[in-house]
Amino acid sequence: MNKPYIINTHSHVNMLKNLPVEQAVKTCSNENIIIIIPSYNNKSIFEVDELTKQFDNVYGYVGVFPEEVKEFSDKTLSDMETIIKNNKKIIGIGEVGLDYYWDKSFVDLQKEVFIKQIEFANEMNLPLNIHCREAFDDTLEILKQYNKNSVAIMHCFSGSIEFAKECIKQGIYIALGGVVTFKNAVKVKEVASEIPLEYLLLETDDPYLTPVPHRGTENQPSYVKLVAQEIAQIRGISTDEVASAATKNALKIFNTLTF
Ligand code: NI
Repeated sequence: MNKPYIINTHSHVNMLKNLPVEQAVKTCSNENIIIIIPSYNNKSIFEVDELTKQFDNVYGYVGVFPEEVKEFSDKTLSDMETIIKNNKKIIGIGEVGLDYYWDKSFVDLQKEVFIKQIEFANEMNLPLNIHCREAFDDTLEILKQYNKNSVAIMHCFSGSIEFAKECIKQGIYIALGGVVTFKNAVKVKEVASEIPLEYLLLETDDPYLTPVPHRGTENQPSYVKLVAQEIAQIRGISTDEVASAATKNALKIFNTLTF
């Protein structure tokens, strides 16, 4: 029997240092894994656009990451719009959001650019892939207030089960990555165990956050199956069941994605 497809909803495969992108993508293709690559700044939107054209099993998001918002401009938005209009494999806006972990000196600008990109996603009628680090309340507040019609995904979810439930109440999806395999990731394991499968998505955020048993080496997109495996173990169901549920969710969100 064929392995079910897995959609890795967040992989920076273009940022791997120890593995050529062709090889990482090929491994995924052999294992029925589809990759969606987020952009993070003005330049990477073009790189992601190119990569989706180069590989069948690669899709992309365009967007500017919270740490890079100082370079965001109207030109960024018009470039993003041009890319979207010309490339059906750009299937969302990301990664966008708020990050209060690294630098809190330009929180207002982060919020302003996040709101602009939410409104842009609404206008384009595309889903949002959201980076939220230590900014839980503000992220949810802004989404409640400004997001009208885009499905939102909390990428690499790191909040509590209570926050996960708050998100799900708003129709927001929860994407889990390698952290769920960490022995001390009690909160994320609790989220993996308790959220309805209908709101689960899988990802790796490679080259960061390498799952067990590869910690200490560079993460790669095919390790998404280890994330599915761990969630399956936590929930006491099969890995295929987790993979199929997450893929079904992803196909519902990204309704232009085909394979
Ligand atoms: Ni990322």
